[in-house]
Amino acid sequence: MAETMKGLHRSHRCTEVTNANIGEVVTVMGWVQKSRNKGGIIFVDLRDRSGLLQIIFEEGDIGAEGFAKAEKLRSEFVVAVVGKVESRSGAANENLATGNIELRATELRILSEAETPPFPIEEDSKTKEDLRLKYRYLDLRRPDLQKNLIMRSKVATFTRSFLADEGFLEIETPMLTKSTPEGARDYLVPSRVHPGNFYALPQSPQIFKQLLMCSGYDRYFQIVKCFRDEDLRADRQPEFTQIDMELSFVDVDDVIGVNERLLQKIFKESIGLDVQLPIQRMTYAEAMDRYGSDKPDTRFGMELKNVSEVVNNCGFSVFTGALEKGGSVRGINAEGQAEMPRKKIDALVEYAKGFGAKGLAYLAINADGTYKSSFSKFMTDEELTALVAAMSGKAGDLLLFAADEDDIVFDVLGNLRLEIARNLDLLKKDEYKFLWVTEFPLLEYSKEEGRYTAKHHPFTMPMEEDLELLNTDPGKVRAKAYDIVLNGTEIGGGSVRIFQNHVQEKMFEVLGFSKEDAYDRFGFLLNAFKYGVPPHAGLAYGLDRLIMLMAKEDSIRDVIAFPKVKDASCLMTEAPNVVEQKQLDELGIGVVVTE
Ligand code: AMO
Ligand code: AMP
Repeated sequence: MAETMKGLHRSHRCTEVTNANIGEVVTVMGWVQKSRNKGGIIFVDLRDRSGLLQIIFEEGDIGAEGFAKAEKLRSEFVVAVVGKVESRSGAANENLATGNIELRATELRILSEAETPPFPIEEDSKTKEDLRLKYRYLDLRRPDLQKNLIMRSKVATFTRSFLADEGFLEIETPMLTKSTPEGARDYLVPSRVHPGNFYALPQSPQIFKQLLMCSGYDRYFQIVKCFRDEDLRADRQPEFTQIDMELSFVDVDDVIGVNERLLQKIFKESIGLDVQLPIQRMTYAEAMDRYGSDKPDTRFGMELKNVSEVVNNCGFSVFTGALEKGGSVRGINAEGQAEMPRKKIDALVEYAKGFGAKGLAYLAINADGTYKSSFSKFMTDEELTALVAAMSGKAGDLLLFAADEDDIVFDVLGNLRLEIARNLDLLKKDEYKFLWVTEFPLLEYSKEEGRYTAKHHPFTMPMEEDLELLNTDPGKVRAKAYDIVLNGTEIGGGSVRIFQNHVQEKMFEVLGFSKEDAYDRFGFLLNAFKYGVPPHAGLAYGLDRLIMLMAKEDSIRDVIAFPKVKDASCLMTEAPNVVEQKQLDELGIGVVVTE
């Protein structure tokens, strides 16, 4: 029968016991990592969230009954051990924080026994993720996940203390609410009291934080769950956490200033990294032009070059055809990669096609200055020389070109650049390159809907100098919107908000909302603005993504205690699931299964 804690108090976590405690009696509690019976002497590695401590059981110290109990210990049993701290008798274990010491047990209690777990509880697990997620409570015992969640907790604490010091108030906003305007699909919750009516779970606290500014709270923040029903990827979950903030009486530089100091503090205190301020800033237009992406990974170069002018009149119809249709021809220089085998180049062509490329033209510059190319036969020597010069090509380089509409060219080359960097192992996880991307377009044209949609959300302020363009050329209007990008991942984004009703109304008009539609959806915000609204702006981080990069993980699932898998289900609880007919009846819901 399992024993209890009666009369025992844990004095230390496993790795809190140090050389300084040698000679003292301590009480530790945790899980048996490993037990080795050497006949007459039993070595046990005890584990808690701090790490491991070696315990020694000998009959002379613990008595016959205690020793018999120690012989029963198996992996994952939960035990309490009282003992004396000693200098390690055998060789010190350099890999352990407690590698110089051991605990000579004088009392053992087995608090609970354990079945053999379905996979070993160990660092760098080889176990398939699906099995680990099914038994997430066991997976979470592994040191890697414990480190990540401990880091996550610390970052939340540093954030709270920093923002409190800067005069921010932490205020909660509702989870059962009305559709919010972040542009993803909503998760809906049916109302029992109002049959046929639904709450939406918030995609972000956007509207509420703006209302809090109207109410005079001045500086708000919240570490808050957000819900978006969108296709999942390694850096996307249906429910995720934002560090969300909003400030009154500020403009772009104020928001960037506070956030640079916040980033500096949390990176220094949690991973010891010195973030150099100010963080580099780049406009959206420049980011697209140089990297083909609005979230460029600036850990490496391989920048895009626009060679449209150079190939304008050349003999290669793929290039000139794209230009005639209003597109562009751009290239990247994979320096030193001229020897890349044909198979690998073909794989890059296929990769490019995945992003809508019709093909990928290449030109390798051999050591002797001759070319190996998919299109050189269509060009004169002069044309080729000019093209190579425009790309700063030298012997040993591989040049890759895409010719198409700008959107496709950017997407293809932006992604190709990353693929080549991954293949060449250029992306170092311990290098952190931050970048603000500013002056995003206010709107983007949706071909499906035949209208403009807000690139960020409909409350984002146009740049003052572009206001007139709202009437004449809305697609060209730049917004006071900014993203913070780290190593090619968008870790946060925000904007200055519209606070003048006439600008907001104009914005809704351009978005194709009638005044009635706009009031129907966001009337409470528009009304609030009638009663005195301060200029305000804000930003939200994806906390999960931030921690993923700090912890050098590839997936946000590794920094979330209970994540969901690709189809948005939880393998442990088996949510989502069918519910009882009675519950559906109460809600007035009938279910039609279409598959
Ligand atoms: P945005 O939609 O850019 O802005 O979201 C802010 C940040 O949240 C993270 N994020 C996600 N992380 C994990 N899974 C997801 N599905 C997911 N979606 C977004 C990203 C992103 O940068 N209300 C505005 C902020 C503002 O304007 O103040 C907003 O929500 O890291
Ligand atoms: P083709 O004459 O169609 O065989 O094309 C010659 C070369 O141009 C091949 O290497 C194609 O992959 C490449 N190519 C075709 N379309 C494009 C495009 N839109 N952009 C860049 N290269 C292309």
